[in-house]
Amino acid sequence: MEQTLSIIKPDAVKKGVIGKIIDRFESNGLRIAAMKKIQLDDAKAGGFYAEHKERPFFGDLVAFMTSGPVVVMVLEGDNAIAKNRDLMGATNPKEAKEGTIRADFAESIDANAVHGSDSAQSAQREIKYFFSDNEVL
Ligand code: CMP
Repeated sequence: MEQTLSIIKPDAVKKGVIGKIIDRFESNGLRIAAMKKIQLDDAKAGGFYAEHKERPFFGDLVAFMTSGPVVVMVLEGDNAIAKNRDLMGATNPKEAKEGTIRADFAESIDANAVHGSDSAQSAQREIKYFFSDNEVL
């Protein structure tokens, strides 16, 4: 069983599609092992996206991720990392395949509804960034 971190971003929370997004995960064999709704501040969002610190979009990314509450989750299942990325679709919703979460619920590359870990190494770091061991059940 593999685990991955998923974030439902402020745009999707504001739109009221938390349940619809979670349904995509559960209907496709991903179990919710942990979940909480939180408000990120600059330090927490900036630390999460530290690998993008030098990218030109970093400031906008942190501003967007702190613009409202997010839902962070640990998803668990066979090939959870790749499966979650398939369900999300491309980072830019304009390039996301029909039927993916980003094609259906996202507006732009910044407001792109969801985040998912991109490797086993980042999944491990990202899960620990938001959850202690006894919160992952
Ligand atoms: P996410 O998967 O959360 O990881 C980093 C985020 O940066 C990405 O989704 C996008 O929402 C955002 N972003 C903004 N511009 C870009 C870009 N040019 N390339 C990649 N990610 C970008």
